[in-house]
Amino acid sequence: MSESTAAAQVEEVMASAMAELEATVDLERLEGWRVSYLGRRGKLTQILRGLGGLSPNERRAVGAAANRLKTLLEDSLDNREAAIKQAASEGNSDKNAIDVTLPGWPAAQGGLHPTTKIVREILGVFHSMGFQVAEGPEVEWDRYNFEMLNIPKEHPARDAFNTLWVDYYDENGEMPMLLRTHTSPVQGRYMEQNKPPIRIVSPGNSYRYEATDATHEWQFTQIEGLAVDRGITFANLKGTLFEFARRIFGQERKVRFRCDFFPFVEPGVDMSIDCFSCEGKGCRICSDTGWIEIMGAGMVHPKVLEAAGLDPYIYTGFAFGMGPERIAMLKYGIDDIRLFHANDLRFLKQF
Ligand code: PHE
Repeated sequence: MSESTAAAQVEEVMASAMAELEATVDLERLEGWRVSYLGRRGKLTQILRGLGGLSPNERRAVGAAANRLKTLLEDSLDNREAAIKQAASEGNSDKNAIDVTLPGWPAAQGGLHPTTKIVREILGVFHSMGFQVAEGPEVEWDRYNFEMLNIPKEHPARDAFNTLWVDYYDENGEMPMLLRTHTSPVQGRYMEQNKPPIRIVSPGNSYRYEATDATHEWQFTQIEGLAVDRGITFANLKGTLFEFARRIFGQERKVRFRCDFFPFVEPGVDMSIDCFSCEGKGCRICSDTGWIEIMGAGMVHPKVLEAAGLDPYIYTGFAFGMGPERIAMLKYGIDDIRLFHANDLRFLKQF
């Protein structure tokens, strides 16, 4: 071994030893490092052993350098060991230390709830036909939820709305407040405050005392619609709702209106679309009927107009009410309404 090679080896060993030590963050690897440099077959140990084969001059020079390196490595080993133990006792080993050169975590991006999305889509369709959005309270007076909608006390239709009442009694010992069972109370509220022409859609939560299952929730969203003016006819109702159905479910949709009863409309209907899944042939989605009910509607009952201070001999109108969750379930093939409030990201992320 010539002097220059031996000297260069000492330099090399020093460089690699110090670089490796810098990256050593636990005691196990530190021991590995010690063995590979200072152990019996370690790189530095071998240099020291080879000194005997050098000329006396070289031996002195290289020997001195190698011994300095030995001291350096031993001191560095002790320091490093102390640092690792210290970091571990602080619960903050270098492994966990902040590395400012790492790329950051991408900021998590939220999204709109599927109900919000479908509500906005539906409102958008009606907005384009000249409807404005009007909202009402979710805790409602009996008067708006029932009385003004031609559902007096003892009317059997009240049974259909199994209801959550607010524990508050008026001077007659009656409970006049409840969580609204539908968005229809907004009809009366709006007509009291605004003169025709009226064209509104009203989205919001509704509540019923329900046993929940795949198609029933005790809290759900509704969108109410109301158009009142001189000369509004059933043809306007059909045209408006037909356009709505085609915009949401496809231009080729057909619609069907059948008689139905709601105390606040006369005549009342339920509206169905032909099944978009089987094109009317019959399948699971349409329960083999070829048709899917999507909302209730009708001409505003004269008593409802009157109760809100409008003359039914001058004004007529139509109203409708639908459940956006049901619309979304049909449109996106969701088979359980409870998913909307289950807060399961696997569900929510799909929208
Ligand atoms: N409010 C009715 C319901 O909740 C729906 C409806 C609204 C029907 C307007 C006719 C007119 O079932």
